[in-house]
Amino acid sequence: MAAGHGMQQGPMPLPGVQHVVAVGSGKGGVGKTTVAVNLAVALGKMGYKVGLVDADIYGPNVPMMLGVTRQPNIMDENRIEPILSHGVKFISVGLISPGDKPMVMRGPMLHQIIRQFLQQVVWGELDYLIVDLPPGTGDVVISLVQTVPLTGAVVVSTGSSVALQDARKALEMFHQVKVEVLGLIENMSQMKMPDGSLLDVFGAGGTERTAAQFGLAFLGAVDLDPKVRKGGDTGMPVALAGRGSELGGAFYEVADKVVAAADKISNEDVLEIS
Ligand SMILES: Nc1ncnc2c1ncn2[C@@H]1O[C@H](COP(=O)(O)OP(=O)(O)OP(=O)(O)O)[C@@H](O)[C@H]1O
Ligand SMILES: [Mg+2]
Repeated sequence: MAAGHGMQQGPMPLPGVQHVVAVGSGKGGVGKTTVAVNLAVALGKMGYKVGLVDADIYGPNVPMMLGVTRQPNIMDENRIEPILSHGVKFISVGLISPGDKPMVMRGPMLHQIIRQFLQQVVWGELDYLIVDLPPGTGDVVISLVQTVPLTGAVVVSTGSSVALQDARKALEMFHQVKVEVLGLIENMSQMKMPDGSLLDVFGAGGTERTAAQFGLAFLGAVDLDPKVRKGGDTGMPVALAGRGSELGGAFYEVADKVVAAADKISNEDVLEIS
């Protein structure tokens, strides 16, 4: 048998795609998709070419949060055209199997879908391909790292001890699969009350302390605010309001830090080669 025939290919860079950055958490519901979507929109507004893979096959929320549920075009040779919304090209199982019917499938099929989303989608030239991960530390990450080399991952948590307990597991998982963690984000950090006071719901500051314990960067804090939830529910992410906006601004600060970390990694690669 010819070498490599029928065998699993190792991770291969996607032609034209500069950086692949995964957004994970450990705990469910802490705001991965909200962060992934707003980070993608912010990067797009900053002038970068951005794609977003919804890798949450069982709970694909990206189409709703980006406000589009159109079926993507299937082109020649099963190439899939991504959907464009708010300057972000994206793909999701939610586009292919819309509505409330769950996708019921086994592990190998899930792996196939992740591969297809990366390799068969016509991404074109991208500076950043963001990958919104499902909760937990499971199969999808393995499929992802077997398919493409990642620039790194960002880990989302609230400040609560239980969310951080799971976030630490996610850090350990990324370590095991040799994905660099670019930093941690605290979502639903503080809530501004109508009288101007701050309500600390989930233990603000916990994520920054955890980042420091692990010697990792803290990428920023996003307030807990109903407008963030509403932006997601209506397909109008708060980052659309721009860098100067009260709620959207936080995602631009996160984006700045992600860009700086990704640039640093690119430069290190150049140094290693030369
Ligand atoms: N900063 C925030 N302020 C208010 N609501 C928020 C904020 N971040 C996220 N939400 C809301 O909390 C809910 C969960 O967020 P999201 O879906 O982004 O989490 P997730 O980590 O992707 O969840 P899952 O683990 O199910 O994929 C959503 O309704 C979202 O709109
Ligand atoms: Mg999600």
